[in-house]
Amino acid sequence: MSDTLTPVEADHAMRNWTYRSEGKIPIGFALHRRMFCEMLLTTHNPYKLAVIDCPKLEPAALKRVTLLPIWDIAVQTEGRASIRVLTFAETVDDTQMRDALRMNGGEEARHKVVLSKLVEAYGIQLAPEPPYPAPKDPLRAWMLTGYSECIDSFFAFGLFEAARQSGYFPEELVETFEPVIQDQEEARHILFSPN
Ligand SMILES: [Fe+2]
Ligand SMILES: [Fe+2]
Repeated sequence: MSDTLTPVEADHAMRNWTYRSEGKIPIGFALHRRMFCEMLLTTHNPYKLAVIDCPKLEPAALKRVTLLPIWDIAVQTEGRASIRVLTFAETVDDTQMRDALRMNGGEEARHKVVLSKLVEAYGIQLAPEPPYPAPKDPLRAWMLTGYSECIDSFFAFGLFEAARQSGYFPEELVETFEPVIQDQEEARHILFSPN
């Protein structure tokens, strides 16, 4: 299980994941559900937040990063995503699905901490955070978050790559945060939630 993997092993497992069953997986049936739950559960990267080292940035690069008007939204989106996913998880009877959802919610909470670390390291001023109440309609809230992640990421991945290619984000910053936020976890969530 992924709990026993190092972050490097987990990274390899995630990038090379394939389902052990051969042949057709009928969509909407138990095997399909097992497959996408297993995908999320077995490709979790148990990285410790302590291993994330915010690289020191040149003054000009630091200014470009801190001036982006996205940090409040990013932190609050992760906070909302986490409570929505975790609330929905507790309404689900299937144990494996519930475990997968709890992991998803936990990863969102971890994203928020990762972002907070970055914000703190670069002295970015955040607006005070609003409360994150549990949603009254957990299923709807889960659907909203699941599909918002798809749409957000469609643009965010592209913008992240544009920032990398143009040098707006310095290479060392991209290298530190690309695997953590974009590539591994949100991509897995996007695969999980529409399924
Ligand atoms: Fe997230
Ligand atoms: Fe996510």
